[in-house]
Amino acid sequence: MARLPAMPNSLRAPRGTRDILPADRVVWARVEGAARELAARYGYREIETPLFEQSAVFERGVGEVTDIVEKELFRVSPSRGEERERWALRPEATAGIVRAYVEHGLHTLPQPIRLSLVGPMFRYDRPQAGRYRQFWQWDVEAIGDPGPAIDAEIIELGLAFYRATGLVDVEAKLNTIGDAACRPAYVESLRAFYEAHRSGLPEAELRRLGANPLRLLDSKEPALVALNRDAPKLADHLCDPCAEHFSAVLRHLDALGVRYRLAPEIVRGLDYYTRTTFEYFRPGAEGQQDALGGGGRYDGLVELLGGRPTPAIGYALGIDRVVAAVQALEANASETTGGATGAAPAGPLAVVVGADPADTVTRLTLATELRAAGLPARADLTTRKLGKQLESAARDGAHFAAILGDGGDGQIQLRDLPAGTQRAVPAADVVRELERAARTHRHGTDAG
Ligand code: HAM
Repeated sequence: MARLPAMPNSLRAPRGTRDILPADRVVWARVEGAARELAARYGYREIETPLFEQSAVFERGVGEVTDIVEKELFRVSPSRGEERERWALRPEATAGIVRAYVEHGLHTLPQPIRLSLVGPMFRYDRPQAGRYRQFWQWDVEAIGDPGPAIDAEIIELGLAFYRATGLVDVEAKLNTIGDAACRPAYVESLRAFYEAHRSGLPEAELRRLGANPLRLLDSKEPALVALNRDAPKLADHLCDPCAEHFSAVLRHLDALGVRYRLAPEIVRGLDYYTRTTFEYFRPGAEGQQDALGGGGRYDGLVELLGGRPTPAIGYALGIDRVVAAVQALEANASETTGGATGAAPAGPLAVVVGADPADTVTRLTLATELRAAGLPARADLTTRKLGKQLESAARDGAHFAAILGDGGDGQIQLRDLPAGTQRAVPAADVVRELERAARTHRHGTDAG
């Protein structure tokens, strides 16, 4: 039989991706749990969309002349030719969710429809701290409400989430970027401004100037950063309805006591935005890589993707960055309290071990009975000696070891591993005894 060549021993996760190992996954689960709990509390229902879509969903939705589509799209080409579609891994969730909204006629449901999604996104960006090629977002979208009250609800929901994770100092930076009525005139004045400074513009930026001058506003090119200070401001070009919408959003936020800062630089890197835009930062961590989330209104996207004109707003919060901030916070707190914060991941309530290493049948049978009764338990299924089985159960964080003897006396020794105490229990009572223990011990957070 032909054999595959031996695997090189340096296989690694692709650059810009990470394994989330069980010890870290605990914090991730807590952060995702906070997102799901808040989504449910605020009436946002879960939706899932494919991890890849026709590229056109993103080219049309996010915009052809955006970093996300121009430089960062992971294009997928199937190795066999029966599919002629051009696909791409999703770089964000909004375009796919709107595609699903149009495809399934979700406008026939009561509007607005509030949707929530937690999942991985993919951007072929240069990997660096806080910027990954596979990262996770919590995305919420409210489709079918022109606002302004729902704009405030969504901005407040984001802040409630950060508070729930322990990041109590997060602030919303807020802006408006106008709409189809007032933006074209602004874009023309911007174009005229950049045309007047053409000679100072790098090649790539000149191309963007032709396609969408707004993109030059959030350019990271040093030449442009300086030039942009003098660029025309959208605030001076807003039409009355946009200006009124924005002041109504602020009024609602003030009524909720939400902390925000007005920030004209928040123009966002995606084409679909209209009116309200916002990003979340912690004070002192306000660089490009530091945004903990961002979003805004996108009143034209549903129509652009083939639906009827429908207003909408949403955000995506970066789970990776939130987890990193929460871990840093907890590491600090644990330094000052001598390591006493943060629950260790819970091990099983009980591990079934036995004096007869070969008798895996009885150990597996008892563990299966315990699990059928709803108790978190496992058996030691190796054939190592009892001492080693007990050692491994303790290292695994188990609270009890159920020790099967080699005599047929129908007794099982129940050992409380952290306490080091032990007592004999009739085999028929083990389930009941462990159920009682599970109720009275705060397993995983307390040794008592
Ligand atoms: P975005 O600003 O591109 O917006 O991404 C939102 C958040 O995702 C960022 O603030 C950041 O926390 C996180 N993020 C983005 N790229 C990366 C990366 N490479 N590595 C780690 N984290 C990252 C959107 O995606 C829009 N779809 C938001 C939206 C929803 N607007 C309306 N509805």
